[in-house]
Amino acid sequence: MRILVLTGAGVSADSGLATFRGVDGLWEGHAIEEVASPHGWRRNPRLVWRFYQLRRAALGGVEPNAAHRALAELERACAQHGVEFRLVTQNVDNLHERAGSQAVHMHGELEWLRCERCGTRVRDLERLDPEMFVPCAACGAERLRPDIVWFGELVPRSEELAQWAEKCTHFVAIGTSGLVYPAAGLIEIARSEGAHTIVQSLDEPANLRHVDAFRPGRACEAVPALCRELAALLP
Ligand code: OAD
Repeated sequence: MRILVLTGAGVSADSGLATFRGVDGLWEGHAIEEVASPHGWRRNPRLVWRFYQLRRAALGGVEPNAAHRALAELERACAQHGVEFRLVTQNVDNLHERAGSQAVHMHGELEWLRCERCGTRVRDLERLDPEMFVPCAACGAERLRPDIVWFGELVPRSEELAQWAEKCTHFVAIGTSGLVYPAAGLIEIARSEGAHTIVQSLDEPANLRHVDAFRPGRACEAVPALCRELAALLP
C-alpha cells in the first residue's frame, strides 16, 4: 500500500484562508495573473510584494484545522505500519507543517523569499511590512521576491511527483479545483496505473472523470473520516 495525497486551497479554507477561485474568479480581489505571474511582478512589483506580504502576515492569524491534523495523524500511522505516505500540496501556506506533516510544496512557500539575481533563498516571517522590499543580504540586490511558483514557471520535482502518482495504490485529492496542471494531471496518472482515486472537495472538481469516489463536503468534516477509513486499511 502506498498513499499519495494532493491538497489544494480547500484544505485551508476552514482555517480562514481564501481559496484562489472564489465565486468572483478573483484571489483576494485580484486577477490571479496580476499577482501570480512573472509578468505581473515585472510590471508592478510593489503591488505583487504588498499582496504576498499580506498573505505572509496572515499566516500568523490562522491555525491548522481538523483536516490538516487528520492527515498528519495518518502520516504517523503509516510510518508505524511501514506504509509509504506522501503529501503534496499546491498551497503556499505552512498549515500542513504546523499540524505535523511533511509536505512537498509544488507552488512554493510563503515562508521563503528568493533572490532573482543570485538564487539565495531566505526563510523569513519577520519582515512583513507591505510597503518595504527586503534586500538580498548575499548579493545586495534591491529586493527579494516571494519564493512562489508563478504561472508560466516550472514546477520543481514534477517528474518525481508523476512517478509517485504512477506507483501509489491510493490517490487522494483534497480541496482542489483540478484546473491547474501538472497537479491536476496526477490523478489521471494514478488511475491509469490502477490506483484507487478519491476526491474530497466542496464542489465537483474539473477532472472528476478520473475519480473512483467523490466525497463532497467541508474538508474539516470529511477528511478526518476519510483518514480513519484509510488508516483502517493499513496492513
Ligand atoms: P481553487 O481555489 O482553484 O479551488 C479550491 C477548491 O477547494 C474548490 O474545488 C472548492 O470546491 C474547494 N473548497 C472550498 N472550500 C472548501 C472546504 N471548506 N472544504 C473542502 N473543499 C473546499 O484552489 P486550487 O485548486 O488549490 O497556483 O488552486 C490550484 C492553484 O491555482 C493554486 O495553487 C494557485 C492557483 O492559481 C499558483 O499560485 C501557482
